[in-house]
Amino acid sequence: MKFTVPSLVALALGAIQVTAAPASDNDNVNLVTRAPTVYFCGDSTMAAKGANDGATDGWGSYIGDLLTVSAVNKAIGGRSARSYWNEGRFQAVADLVKSGDIVVIEFGHNDGGSPTSNDNGRSDCPGSGTETCISDKTGETVYTFVFYVIQAAKLMTAKGATVILSSQTPNNQWETGVWSGAPSRFVGYQLTAKNALADSKVTFVDHHEAVSRMYRKLGNSAVNALYPNDHTHTSPAGAKYAAQAFVQAVYQNMNGTTSLSSYVKTPITTVY
Ligand SMILES: *[C@@H]1O[C@H](CO)[C@@H](O)[C@H](O)[C@H]1NC(C)=O
Repeated sequence: MKFTVPSLVALALGAIQVTAAPASDNDNVNLVTRAPTVYFCGDSTMAAKGANDGATDGWGSYIGDLLTVSAVNKAIGGRSARSYWNEGRFQAVADLVKSGDIVVIEFGHNDGGSPTSNDNGRSDCPGSGTETCISDKTGETVYTFVFYVIQAAKLMTAKGATVILSSQTPNNQWETGVWSGAPSRFVGYQLTAKNALADSKVTFVDHHEAVSRMYRKLGNSAVNALYPNDHTHTSPAGAKYAAQAFVQAVYQNMNGTTSLSSYVKTPITTVY
């Protein structure tokens, strides 16, 4: 399903109230007793089978083994915050979410580029607020990364979920043989979105920083061995490491307490 521009604008302005379905008696009981389900929204670096090349995998394939509650991996290769929104995928997750569930949102790898110059349907409008662009391909209004993430988080919190905005994983930081780890702008944008929401139900974890620390510790040859085909997608071993780094950051509250920290299997594997 595509969101029309007016509905997105109305959502942003709060003109349309997003309301959770009325809780049934059963839901009320569940509020007290039901273990949360954790949903993961992301791109190929999180998705099952990674880049679908037979050699790579996403960290969402391994995170369930590291938690005491059930994990549902909704990541899809090739998606950006914009395309995941436009395809109705955040809405589809929100439709599954029950009060008390947890939603992790991590994008950035496919969000670069320009929607006004040969738009690929994934690039966000530059900026970190309410800036808009017009796609040179479709004429659609394109919003910023921060804007799409904020709308997605609001969909989830309206259903009673808590949201963890996670920064994207780095590419291979040892690609040249010398460590180089500057984060993309989308790492900071996740924190910008969290701060703009100013809602205690929305927290931030710097997955990029956690993996960066792990990669520095692992070193040049060990990290290069985790990238079989390109500098973005890792082997299954690399995906498992990325899941462990995420769990360590969550467990140790790297960027503040999140709703997931009490659902981590202990003892954790320390990877950085
Ligand atoms: C997250 O916390 C770590 C540890 O304090 C810090 O190094 C990192 O810069 C923080 N991330 C952001 C985006 O502020």
